[in-house]
Amino acid sequence: MKTLVLVFHPDLTASRANRRLAEEIEKEANVTVHRVYEAYPDEKIDVAAEQRLLEKHDRIVLQFPFYWYSTPPLLKKWEDAVLSYGWAFGSMGDKLRGKELLIAVSTGAAKENYSSDGNFKYTVPELLRPLEVTSNLIGTIYLTPYILYGVNQQSDEQLEQGAKGYVAYVLNPEIEPFVVR
Ligand SMILES: Cc1cc2nc3c(=O)[nH]c(=O)nc-3n(C[C@H](O)[C@H](O)[C@H](O)COP(=O)(O)O)c2cc1C
Repeated sequence: MKTLVLVFHPDLTASRANRRLAEEIEKEANVTVHRVYEAYPDEKIDVAAEQRLLEKHDRIVLQFPFYWYSTPPLLKKWEDAVLSYGWAFGSMGDKLRGKELLIAVSTGAAKENYSSDGNFKYTVPELLRPLEVTSNLIGTIYLTPYILYGVNQQSDEQLEQGAKGYVAYVLNPEIEPFVVR
């Protein structure tokens, strides 16, 4: 299985979590890491190049820090441009059908905030629903998201463990598809 990790972080030089996750997963065979903000500093996305990259892989990982309970803006722009009609959806748009989609997200806030009786009222998978529905539309298998909570409070050692856990998770050939509970 060939895995593509698309990293959407606006400034990896200032990142602790996403930089480490990307560095760790990049060491693995059959894994391609693509740092999208670095590839397009002017945010002009090469749609054909992105689509070719996606077509060559079986598991697509969208890795990003949670920003305003959502994705960084370039990921939204990337979706708008790359997941085009006739390619990703529509009667002829089947290029991603049957591939796996994994969301890997880091949060600043601790896990207990993300529950019906916590500060934010919703779980992270609930807040990720637009991506889940998008996955349904484009026919990818929506895997159970990988969520690294409270990264800003984590020690370097905890982050290292998180990065190792991430690699093990992404490389598992049998990640469970996400089931709404
Ligand atoms: C613009 C912005 C918005 C953010 N919004 C959230 C948020 O909605 N929920 C949350 O838990 N953390 C939020 N954070 C914290 C980031 O998710 C956190 O700093 C990031 O996951 C750490 O990863 P990094 O070390 O790779 O930058 C936000 C940070 C920024 C800069």
